[in-house]
Amino acid sequence: MRRVILKEEQVWRGPLILVNAAHALRPGRSLRLAPVDERYPDVRIDRQAARLLADCIRQVHGDGAIIPVSGWRSQAEQQQIWDESLAAHGEHFTHSYVALPGCSEHQTGLAIDLGQAAGKIDFIRPAFPDYGVCGAFRRRAADYGFICRYERDKQTLTGIAAEPWHFRYVGLPHARLMTERNLCLEEYIDLLRRQELSCLLPGGWMAQVFFVPCRGAETEAELPDGCCQVSGNNVDGFVITAWGVLA
Ligand code: DAL
Ligand code: ZN
Repeated sequence: MRRVILKEEQVWRGPLILVNAAHALRPGRSLRLAPVDERYPDVRIDRQAARLLADCIRQVHGDGAIIPVSGWRSQAEQQQIWDESLAAHGEHFTHSYVALPGCSEHQTGLAIDLGQAAGKIDFIRPAFPDYGVCGAFRRRAADYGFICRYERDKQTLTGIAAEPWHFRYVGLPHARLMTERNLCLEEYIDLLRRQELSCLLPGGWMAQVFFVPCRGAETEAELPDGCCQVSGNNVDGFVITAWGVLA
């Protein structure tokens, strides 16, 4: 084991940050964005997430059939989408399908809306059916670190209606753990406060996931030797992911 100091600012950064109406995104994160598909250079997400998403689309032969519709958005863009939706569709629709400016996952660079290729693609609610190439993508997404973020049966927890087109990068093993256990990000973050989890990954890797609460400006923590990732949860602490090879 090794002792490390985790700084409070790290609570607001990393692939596991929970961003919703109760937990706004904190400013000051540095983003490294890249397009998923060079044919749509304006639709950009986190560079590593973009590479994995492109791999997943290729794996299901979705090239040209799955279109990146909306990736990273600035505060001004989210505000404009919110204002235009309110004017065109009213409050109920807007609160169901558009996150409050400052509270949108799109502002993190970790979320993307995907659409089935068509002559006209709806920007707020692109069609992304559960069959064909889109269905194949949905079934493989967790292996590449993506979750379908807004499921119908989780609306009371997420505050957003079913959005089968909105995918969020959380990375591995988290996407697999959440998908296997049918947990939305709100539930997963909550579960980790109470329970350590482990997950067997391809290639004989084992991942261990546990939570360390933030205790102020600096938190001392013990991490296992070897490869570890620290991600804030954007609420009250750090999620530690440690990888090891099964003996
Ligand atoms: N459509 C999602 C909820 C957003 O606006 O972030
Ligand atoms: Zn979205």
